[in-house]
Amino acid sequence: MGGFIRGLLKFIVGVAVILGVAYGAIHWLTQRRLATTYAIEVAPVTVPTDAEAIAHGGHVFVTRACAECHGTDASGAMIVDDPLLGTAMGPNLTSGKGGLGGTLTDADYVRAVRHGVGTDGRGLVVMPSAEYAMMADSDLLPLIAYLKQVPPVDHEVPDVKFRPLGQLLVIKGDFAPDAEDIDHTAAVPDAPPVGETAEYGAYLANTCKGCHGPTLSGGKIASAPPDWPPAQNLTPDTATGLGQWTESDFFKAIREQTRPDGTKLSPVMPATQFARMTDSELKALWAYLVTVEAKSEGNH
Ligand code: HEC
Ligand code: HEC
Repeated sequence: MGGFIRGLLKFIVGVAVILGVAYGAIHWLTQRRLATTYAIEVAPVTVPTDAEAIAHGGHVFVTRACAECHGTDASGAMIVDDPLLGTAMGPNLTSGKGGLGGTLTDADYVRAVRHGVGTDGRGLVVMPSAEYAMMADSDLLPLIAYLKQVPPVDHEVPDVKFRPLGQLLVIKGDFAPDAEDIDHTAAVPDAPPVGETAEYGAYLANTCKGCHGPTLSGGKIASAPPDWPPAQNLTPDTATGLGQWTESDFFKAIREQTRPDGTKLSPVMPATQFARMTDSELKALWAYLVTVEAKSEGNH
């Protein structure tokens, strides 16, 4: 009997040591991956201050989903709070207590949005800068103008914290900083002329690719908590995509979060933010979506 208990104890201690070492290794690899810093020189920008630019910037803040993670008042919002993945909130971007607003320079905003790099040179995590890397000056500069004048809100927001599964996803790459993949030297072209055209829709659709994937064919969202549904196929594929949809079905999905069969979209799809897109913007997006190559779901 004594031998059995001793054996059991040895086994438990052995397992604990292995788990401890594994956990230590995961933690170390995660920290190493997140510690990489990037020296990004940002060309000087001139941020407008007129009311029209600020209004446009506010529209960009909502319709490019910044508000989804940073809150409609820009004071920060909960994105993921999962016992296995970790906790991520968008930081408070106002100049209130706990906010970054008072400290960020114009170049800091450009570095965060287009390059995914924070003021400390670290690659930002969870912030989908790869989708914003090609945001044209005509949207980015008004966006900065808007953020610089949002009313201060006192709100302390904790740093992003990864738990073991989240750490594994950092090592695997799903949760790795977008800065790793962004071409930091690429020139950012002007936006196509604003209009109800497929070309302008393609520019707007960069915001959809973080979840719906580079070909928009949907599938599982990398790094999503287990209870998130997959992103749907937005290509004209008739079996799993939007092949049977009309423009008015698309409007209804975005504006009322309702599909043609009457079912509601999951709140994971930030449709309430996209609902604020103008009719022309939604028409442009639809004009683009009908032109993309039909693909089966998750075929990128
Ligand atoms: C999916 C959620 C999400 C979206 C969408 C998002 N952000 Fe963020 N953002 C974050 C998180 C999380 C951080 C903090 C990341 C970190 O500290 O590693 C962050 C950080 C920032 C920072 C601070 C950078 C620094 O120096 O610390 C700025 C500025 C910012 N975001 C602006 C924006 C703007 C503007 C948009 C829209 C164009 C946007 N974000 C969209 C989640 C998001
Ligand atoms: C944060 C992730 C995310 C982003 C960003 C996002 N989507 Fe979605 N979308 C989803 C998810 C998840 C679903 C599936 C929702 C469900 O199953 O109820 C979805 C569903 C949809 C649907 C319904 C499709 C169907 O067959 O029912 C449409 C249309 C759609 N998205 C369009 C867009 C467009 C257009 C954009 C960009 C402007 C976009 N989405 C950006 C996550 C996202």
